[in-house]
Amino acid sequence: MLIKIPRTCDSIESQVTPESIYLSRRSLLGGSVALLAAGAMPQWASAAEASRYADVEAGNAPAWFTDKLSQTQWQAMTVAGEAITPFKDATHYNNFYEFGTDKGDPAANAGSLKTEPWSVVIDGEVGKPGRYALEDFIKPYALQERIYRMRCVEAWSMVIPWLGFPLADLLKQVEPTSKARYIRFETLKDPQTMPGQRSDFALIDWPYVEGLRLDEAMNPLAILAVGMYGRELPHQNGAPLRLVVPWKYGFKGGKSIVRISLTTEQPKTTWQQIAPGEYGFYANVNPTVDHPRWTQARERRLPSGLFSPNVRDTLMFNGYGDEVASLYQGMDLRKDY
Ligand code: MTE
Repeated sequence: MLIKIPRTCDSIESQVTPESIYLSRRSLLGGSVALLAAGAMPQWASAAEASRYADVEAGNAPAWFTDKLSQTQWQAMTVAGEAITPFKDATHYNNFYEFGTDKGDPAANAGSLKTEPWSVVIDGEVGKPGRYALEDFIKPYALQERIYRMRCVEAWSMVIPWLGFPLADLLKQVEPTSKARYIRFETLKDPQTMPGQRSDFALIDWPYVEGLRLDEAMNPLAILAVGMYGRELPHQNGAPLRLVVPWKYGFKGGKSIVRISLTTEQPKTTWQQIAPGEYGFYANVNPTVDHPRWTQARERRLPSGLFSPNVRDTLMFNGYGDEVASLYQGMDLRKDY
């Protein structure tokens, strides 16, 4: 059977926005990645930081989110010297097949997503399983702003200021049993509000599922995000809860998560099931392992256009090698792509 995989990296963003938002103020951080200890936050890091994203569209934040903002640790991690992608690009050039396969479809169609009430189930190999209302699920954690590169397998990239908390903190709380080796993320299946799930042409066996090895999930870089650009997540970016794993291709970041399961077996993940020769379970950003149909050595940093393609070299582990390379010691990343 011939499977036609949508390949969207050849679509060109016509709109070119100047790279106007820089992190020059943060140049004191140095290096490609900088993590500020909680106690070392400078004076200017206050809730007022949210408003510095000049192009951000106001949302309609739930009360629990607004309450969290005042204790947020702004700029807990950043990418020195790289421009933050304009909000407009980050929210109008999306992959969220539940709302259509074109890059503009999620922004156009995700208004139908109902994010309240929302609950998250924790189950499988955990000492404390349960179903939690989102606000209770989030309650124990202070938000941190993590400005991360995001590299899509389709060879485009962005720099996004996420608001979330370490996945490791959740895992410690729910107490994985000694048999837990993987973590499976299941996202919302609701054909009534998700037109892509009603389509007869959908390749995906819904719900969209992603997974990590437990030690990957415990890495401090892996977060669960509830916001971006100083506000709650827009629907098209995976409201109200999504996974962000910056050293992996973007498809690992499941959107609109409803169930988190600890498992003994490696979960069957969506893209790996659709095309195992093209998309692996690990999906680490790796410029030396090409996709069978295009190179992974370079990427278009959005905004990118015909006269200003903004192409740059892709970095091993998306530039996060110091933090994550040890997770893969002894593995053949050509085989485990
Ligand atoms: N999660 C769900 N539920 N459905 C999807 O189609 N697409 C993935 C990932 N998470 C997807 C998803 C892919 S392919 C990418 S590249 C990122 O979301 C895109 O995130 P963004 O649109 O916020 O940039």
